[in-house]
Amino acid sequence: MRDPNIGEILIQADELRARIADLGEQISADYAGREIQLVCVLKGAVLFVADLMRQLSVPCRVDFMAVSSYGSATSSSGVVRILKDLDHSIEGQHVLIVEDIIDSGLTLQYLLRNLRSRKPASLEVCSLLTKPSRREVDLPIKYTGFPLPDRYAVGYGLDLDQRYRNLPYVAALTDDAVRAAGGERPAPPAEPTR
Ligand code: IMP
Ligand code: MG
Repeated sequence: MRDPNIGEILIQADELRARIADLGEQISADYAGREIQLVCVLKGAVLFVADLMRQLSVPCRVDFMAVSSYGSATSSSGVVRILKDLDHSIEGQHVLIVEDIIDSGLTLQYLLRNLRSRKPASLEVCSLLTKPSRREVDLPIKYTGFPLPDRYAVGYGLDLDQRYRNLPYVAALTDDAVRAAGGERPAPPAEPTR
């Protein structure tokens, strides 16, 4: 039986595979002659980094970082805490942050500032998914897989309350499931506030 929380499939497994192969090729060309230090942001980007790094023809190393952003189950506040830091220094390395999804961009803004202060030789971002209509800060994102509509997505690493990460595709959560998770966004103010 299908899980009642899972709505329409937004990106099929074979589309993910094909796009990730393209990204791997593009990144390998851009980094030719260099070694990439991948920084995978736990936990959502785990499936993506595992598939992406197998498509790289340049040498790479991978390290992991876990951050938590305070907020409701389905939207972030931009206040970020490091739960697990990198194991190794990135000074002088060509760092590529691997993210699952950029929503408001607040988490990534924090990460970019934090990692830039550690003096990498270069710092770029590869995010599998992006929700352009939700962006609150303008950030340099060099590689993206797919744009998504303003829907809460699960699968291929993305979770709701730690579930659904193992789905081989990306699906929208049903509206009922978003509401049940407390993800309803506050209504805009009736009059503009200054
Ligand atoms: P941001 O700080 O608003 O850009 O949110 C970044 C993080 O929130 C992502 O790395 C995800 O972990 C999580 N997130 C944002 N949108 C979704 C979604 O649609 N599904 C699952 N997780 C999401
Ligand atoms: Mg993430």
